[in-house]
Amino acid sequence: MNSEKIKEIFDNEVFKTISDCASELNISAFVIGGFVRDLFLGKNSKDVDIVVLGSGIEMAKKAASKLGIRKVTVFKTFGTAMFVHNEIEYEFVGARKESYSQNSRKPVVELGSLEDDQNRRDFTINALAVSINRQNYYSLVDPFDGIIDLQNKILRTPLNPDVTYSDDPLRMMRAIRFAAQLNFKIEEVSFEAIVRNKERIKIISAERITTELNKIILSKKPSIGFKLLLQSGLLEIIFPEMYSLLGVDEIEGKRHKDNFFHTLQVLDNIAKNTDDLWLRWAAILHDIAKPITKKYYPETGWTFHGHEDRGARMVPEIFKQLKLPLDHKMKYVQKLVALHLRPIALTKEIATDSAIRRLLYDAGDDIDDLMILCGADITSKNEAKVKQYLQNYETVKEKLIAVEAKDKIRNWQPPISGELIMQTFGIKPSPEVGLIKNAIREAILEGEILNNYHEAFGFMLKKAAELGLIVAAT
Ligand code: CTP
Repeated sequence: MNSEKIKEIFDNEVFKTISDCASELNISAFVIGGFVRDLFLGKNSKDVDIVVLGSGIEMAKKAASKLGIRKVTVFKTFGTAMFVHNEIEYEFVGARKESYSQNSRKPVVELGSLEDDQNRRDFTINALAVSINRQNYYSLVDPFDGIIDLQNKILRTPLNPDVTYSDDPLRMMRAIRFAAQLNFKIEEVSFEAIVRNKERIKIISAERITTELNKIILSKKPSIGFKLLLQSGLLEIIFPEMYSLLGVDEIEGKRHKDNFFHTLQVLDNIAKNTDDLWLRWAAILHDIAKPITKKYYPETGWTFHGHEDRGARMVPEIFKQLKLPLDHKMKYVQKLVALHLRPIALTKEIATDSAIRRLLYDAGDDIDDLMILCGADITSKNEAKVKQYLQNYETVKEKLIAVEAKDKIRNWQPPISGELIMQTFGIKPSPEVGLIKNAIREAILEGEILNNYHEAFGFMLKKAAELGLIVAAT
C-alpha cells in the first residue's frame, strides 16, 4: 500500500470533518484497528474505529453535527459513541490504558495515550493507527512493526502474549480465527501462550466464543482453524463433542477412519460449494454421534449404527451449549444430519424410482443442500472408490431431477385432503381419515398410483371399502 492510496482513502468528507473537529477541540484522533489492517490487505471494511486522545463521545457528537447526522449512539459506561454515514459505522473511543474489550462490562476508568491504547490491543496487525490530525494527516503509527507482520503473514501480540491473552482470553480464539481467515501463522511463542492459557477461555461467554467459531467455519479452508483449535487444546474445552470424533480404534487389526479428520475433510469440501453457515454446520455435525454408536463385530468390523438419528437428536443440545439459534436453522441442521446417509445409500445400489421419491418427500426443499452435503461426504484414500461413488452420485442427482419432473414430490401437497375424505364418507375426524391419507401417500411414493387427483380418488375409494366405509349420499 503506497501513501498515494492511503491519501485517496482518507481524502473523504468524514475523515476531514473529524480532523477539523480534532483541531477545534485541540485533541488528537487516529483511525485504528481492523479498518487500517484491512486497508493494507486491500480489503474494504465497513467498521471504522477512531481512537481519540480525549472524549470519544464529545468528538462523535461534534463530527456528527457538522456532517448533519442526527443519530449518535452513545455508550456512556464504555465512553464510546458511534454514528453511521453511507452505510459505514464510525465508532469513537477515548484512548485507554486498560485492556481493550468491546464486550467487557468493566467501565472505562483511565484514559491513556495512543501508545497505551496500542499496547493493549490484541495483535500488532490490529494496532496499526493512521493519524487524522491536521499536522500529520494520514501518517501511519506502527510501533510494533505490524506492517512487517502483515507482509510476513504473522500474528503477534504487542505485549508479552501471556499478558495479552490473559487480559482478554477471547483473543486466543481471535488468533486462530485470523490465522484461518487470513491464512496467517501464529507466532510460536504466542501459540505456546495460548496452550498455557487455554483454561482461561472458560471465563468467556459462549456467545463471544461462537462468534469467532462461526468466522472460522466461514473461512475459505476451515480445517486450518479447527486443527489449531485442536492443537491448542481449546477445542476440547469449547466443543467437546467435536473433540470426541478424534482418534482411531483398532481391534483384531481392523481400524476405522479418524472421524475428526474425516469431518474436517467434509467441511473443507463443502466450503468449496457453499458459503451457507448452516450447511457448513451440518457438515461439522453429520457424524457427531459416531463415537457413541461405535461398535466392533468380528464378522463385519466397525459399525456406527444409527449415528444419523442419534446425531440429529444431539443437535439441539449442542446448539444450546454454543448459544446458536434454536429456531428453523437448528431444525434444518437436524434434518440434514438425520438424512445424510440416504443419498449415499442410493449411490451404492441401483436406485429405484420409489426410493428416489421417498428421498424427495423426506428432504423437500432441502434436497439440493442434502446433495451438496453428500457430495462433500464422499472421501476415501482409495481414489478408485471415490471416482466410482462420485459417478453413482451424479446418476442419483440426474434421477432426482427426472423423477421430480415427472412426479412433483419435492413440495408434496396431498392430492386428496382430509376434508374431502370426511365429506365423501360422511365421517368425523377419526383415525380412519389418517389411515386413508397415509395409504394414498404410500401408494404414490411406491409408484402404485400417479401423484394426481384422479388416481388418488380411485385409490381412496378402494382403501375406504377395505375399512368398511361407504360413500355418503349427497
Ligand atoms: N480488539 C482487541 N481485543 C479484542 C477485540 C478487539 O484488541 N478481544 C481490538 C483490535 O485492535 C481490533 C479492534 O479492537 O482490530 C476492533 O475489533 P473488532 O471490530 O472486534 O474486530 P476487527 O479487528 O475489526 O476484525 P473483524 O472486523 O474481522 O471482526
